[in-house]
Amino acid sequence: MALPITGTTVKQQHLDWAAAGSLLAGLPGGALNLGHEAVDRHVAEGRGERVALTFLGRRYERKTLTYAQLADATSRAAQVLLDLGVQPGDTVAVLLGRTSELYLAALGSWKAGAVFCPLFGAFGPGPLKSRLELARAKVLIATEPLYQRKIAALRGSLPDLQHVLLVGEDGAAPAPHDGCADFNALVAAAQPASIVETNAQSPAFVHFTSGTTGTPKGALHNHGAVLSHLVTGRQVFDLTAADVYWCTADPGWITNTAYALVSPLVNGCMSVVDEAEFDPRRWYGVLKDEKVTVWYTTPTNIRMMMRYGAALARIYRENSLRLAASVGEPLNPEAVAWGDKALGAPFLDTWWQTETGAIAIANLPGHAKPGSMGLPLPGVEAAVVNRNLSKIEVLTEIDAVGELALKADLPSLFTAYVGDANRYQASFCEGWYLTGDLVRRDADGFFWFVGRSDDMIKSAGHTIGPFEIECTLMDHPAVAEIGVVGRPDLLLREVPVAFVSLNPGFEPGEALRLELLYFARQELGSALAPREILFVEAMPKTTTGKILRRALKAKALAEPEEDQPVTLAVAPGRFDDE
Ligand code: PRX
Repeated sequence: MALPITGTTVKQQHLDWAAAGSLLAGLPGGALNLGHEAVDRHVAEGRGERVALTFLGRRYERKTLTYAQLADATSRAAQVLLDLGVQPGDTVAVLLGRTSELYLAALGSWKAGAVFCPLFGAFGPGPLKSRLELARAKVLIATEPLYQRKIAALRGSLPDLQHVLLVGEDGAAPAPHDGCADFNALVAAAQPASIVETNAQSPAFVHFTSGTTGTPKGALHNHGAVLSHLVTGRQVFDLTAADVYWCTADPGWITNTAYALVSPLVNGCMSVVDEAEFDPRRWYGVLKDEKVTVWYTTPTNIRMMMRYGAALARIYRENSLRLAASVGEPLNPEAVAWGDKALGAPFLDTWWQTETGAIAIANLPGHAKPGSMGLPLPGVEAAVVNRNLSKIEVLTEIDAVGELALKADLPSLFTAYVGDANRYQASFCEGWYLTGDLVRRDADGFFWFVGRSDDMIKSAGHTIGPFEIECTLMDHPAVAEIGVVGRPDLLLREVPVAFVSLNPGFEPGEALRLELLYFARQELGSALAPREILFVEAMPKTTTGKILRRALKAKALAEPEEDQPVTLAVAPGRFDDE
């Protein structure tokens, strides 16, 4: 069935979200469940024998699941959760790689009416603890090594966490651990559950993103978001059942939930799920051997592929790609052109956020401007605005720079920051959601990214809040004051660097620098830890005593940029920090 779109050009097109709702199958009595839309619907409509997922293990072990097999396994995973006493709205946190268990955990949670909350494996115990606490996770499904290294010692300080289910190396049975059970064994023994009756407003998944101040923000999304994932999968990628689709995102990132889990499945195509980390030869091989037709990745990954040069690209020139797209940070025109030359498909940049839950602005085939974020998708109203207290001024002048605002009627838009109603409300004004991104719109209606309106750091596509790093390092006895800013990096776009002033009795020097770097890495994990510690005698301050980040940023810019070896990169595809 075609999308209910009116208008002739992309710029004029309008999508009727209410009419688009009829694209969803739904359940009797008006219920709507993500798990049903993504999987069981295809079985009910006679497509159960189609391959839904092809998993590639680290050593290229290959496993496929048809939609019928996935429906059965995820219903059994749902029963496991129900047997543990999971109630609708309870949170199931997940620390897993890109493996079949991730799909069982997500879809099983949705079928059981629970809220799926994937976390970054590259976070350290501190950030994981604060997120598990904020989400009030009742169940954690984790790989055995991640649980042992990062959670086991915290277990006693997480009173809400009642159950831990483990997955051993390569899906094998985990060794016995106190208070933990074997996830795969429980799934194998369970009977398939009936899907719990959720509706469009029922909470479905929460992803944490960083804030400039305070605790991380847990953006909550409802089952109704599935409509955006279905529609944008068609609008941006033109997904059909004939496609082989590959998204390289880390499971902790919402890109994985929205565009590796939900969008390809609701659109009935086949997804490749590669467990391994970035490796250029492997990635070219996956594109070629799996006959991938649609590929979604990030600028950092693209830059890493580009670094390996044209010779390697030539070996793998033959592929089946018809569309390649990118997300997470601006994509420079050189990278767009490189895609065309090396892969035969230029990269189309797409823009969205954890809060928007789905792509909102994108370059589309035939409607692309390299270097831009693209055009708002039909169904998305976007504006450049000035926010003055509780008033919004829409800037209509061409190329005027202002904050990007979206009309707050998107099915996938977040519905809460868990436990922080004030922050949620502060993100909206006069019916607009304010994104915090500074943009301009050109004469053709294309949006161009200018920067953030706050102090957020973008590293390898990840949004990092300086506050969380600062709080953790303040726990070290040597640190008197600290300010963290992003320093430009050729590969990762930015890396966090920390300026530190010391308490009396501590001397700046190499030994203390390494100690602080090690302390940060242990506590925060590789995804958040600062790459450099720079000692300052006194912190630059505003007249009101706040750390002057602008001055620190200028100091960071004056530091020579290190050209990090590729193997040290914290790429979005990177899962483990050992
Ligand atoms: O600043 C924008 C940048 O990434 C932010 C969203 O980060 P996060 O919530 O972690 O990502 C979720 C999934 C995308 C945005 O506010 N960003 C994202 N895409 C682009 C971008 N900046 C420029 N161009 C993009 N295409």
